[in-house]
Amino acid sequence: MSHTQDPLFEPLEWSGLTLHNRVVMAPLTRSRAGQPGDVPTPMMAEYYAQRAAAGLIIAEATNISPIAKGYVFTPGIFTPEQIAGWRGVTDAVHARGGHMVLQLWHCGRVSHVSLHDGESPVGPSAVTGETCLAFGLDAQGNPARVPASPPRALTLTEIRSTVEDYARAASNALAAGFDGVEVHAANGYLPHQFLASNVNRRGDAYGGSLEGRCRFLFEVVEAVTGVVPRGRVGVRLSPLFTGNDIADADPVETQGHVAAHLARVGIGYLHVADTDVMRQVAPKMEAILAAIRPHYQGLTMLNGAFDGPRAGAALAAGEADLIAFGRPFISNPDLPERLRRGGPFTPPDPATFYGGGAEGYTDWPTLDSAGGA
Ligand SMILES: Cc1cc2nc3c(=O)[nH]c(=O)nc-3n(C[C@H](O)[C@H](O)[C@H](O)COP(=O)(O)O)c2cc1C
Repeated sequence: MSHTQDPLFEPLEWSGLTLHNRVVMAPLTRSRAGQPGDVPTPMMAEYYAQRAAAGLIIAEATNISPIAKGYVFTPGIFTPEQIAGWRGVTDAVHARGGHMVLQLWHCGRVSHVSLHDGESPVGPSAVTGETCLAFGLDAQGNPARVPASPPRALTLTEIRSTVEDYARAASNALAAGFDGVEVHAANGYLPHQFLASNVNRRGDAYGGSLEGRCRFLFEVVEAVTGVVPRGRVGVRLSPLFTGNDIADADPVETQGHVAAHLARVGIGYLHVADTDVMRQVAPKMEAILAAIRPHYQGLTMLNGAFDGPRAGAALAAGEADLIAFGRPFISNPDLPERLRRGGPFTPPDPATFYGGGAEGYTDWPTLDSAGGA
C-alpha cells in the first residue's frame, strides 16, 4: 500500500526513469552564468542540487547558439566549456537522486544588438516586438532592460542551420549528462514567433498558412527527436500567451494543430504553461486545456500559479500527469517536502530573480535548516 494518498507523491515511470513524485521544477532563468562565455558554474550546480527532490528539474532556458541569446548572463549549450559546466550541474543533481532535462532556447526577435556585436537579432520576419524587452547592455555598457532591437528575417538557409543548431544543442545536452531536453516553444520566443500570425509574415513555406507557420517548430522537433530518444523530448507551449507582443489571430486553432502533431510524433511530454500569470493576468488554464485536450492525450505537464491543493486536484481529475512549479521553487528549495506538509512556504523576492550572486539564489532556508518550522 502506498504511504500517501496524495497524487503529487505518486512516482511516475517516465521513459525508463522513475520520477519520485509529480512535482516538477519549472524552467527558471536566473541569469547567473559564469563570464566570459556564459558557462554554468559550481554555484548553479549547488542551486540545482538543492532542488533535486523534485520529480524532474527543467533547467533554465539555455541558448542553442550565440544569436539565440536575448538576455545577458544566460547560459549556453554550444561551447565545450558550457557542456563541461553543465556536466558539473547534472552530476550534482544525479548524485542527489534527481533527474534533469535542459530547456533549449532561441529568443529570436526578443533580443538586442548589444548582445551581438551590433548585429541585428533574427526572427521569422522583420517585425519588431514593440513591447518586447531584452536584457542587454545600455549605452554605458551596463546590463539593463532594453527595448528589443528591430530583427531581420531569417533566410531559408538560415532556417535550416537554426534547425541544425537545435539538434546540435540537444546532442550537447546529452553529452552534458541531461536526461532529456525540452523545446521551448512558449512565451513568445522564436518557435512561438513562427507560430503567431502577427509576427510571422513570411510568404514562403515557413509562413502564411497554418501548416507554414507550424513548419519551423515541427522541423525542430523532428531534428531534436533524431538525436534524443523521442520519449525524452518535451515541448513547452503557452497556448493563450499574450506577452512579448504575441497576438496570433487564432491561437486555439494554431495551438490545437501543434498539439495534434506532437501527439502523432509521440513526444515524451507536453508542457502546457499559463505564463501570463507572471504579469498578473488572471489564470486561464481551463480555456487553455479546452484548446489542447481534444488534440493531445499523451503525458501532460501543467504550469502556472499552482499550489498544492490545486495541483493535487488537477492530478486526481486526470487533467495532468505532472505539475511544474516556478516561483515557489525559487524560494523553497525543499518545495516537495513543504507541499507534503502543507507548508509553510517562503515567498520569493523578485529583486533577486535575475543576476547577482548567491543572495536570493542558493541561500533560501529549508525546513530542516529553519529548525523544522
Ligand atoms: C524568474 C523567472 C524566470 C523564468 N524563466 C523561464 C525560462 O527560462 N523558461 C520558461 O519557459 N519559463 C520561464 N519562466 C516562467 C516559469 O517557468 C513559469 O511558467 C511561471 O513562473 C509561472 O509558474 P508559477 O506560477 O509556478 O511561478 C520564468 C519565470 C520566472 C519568475
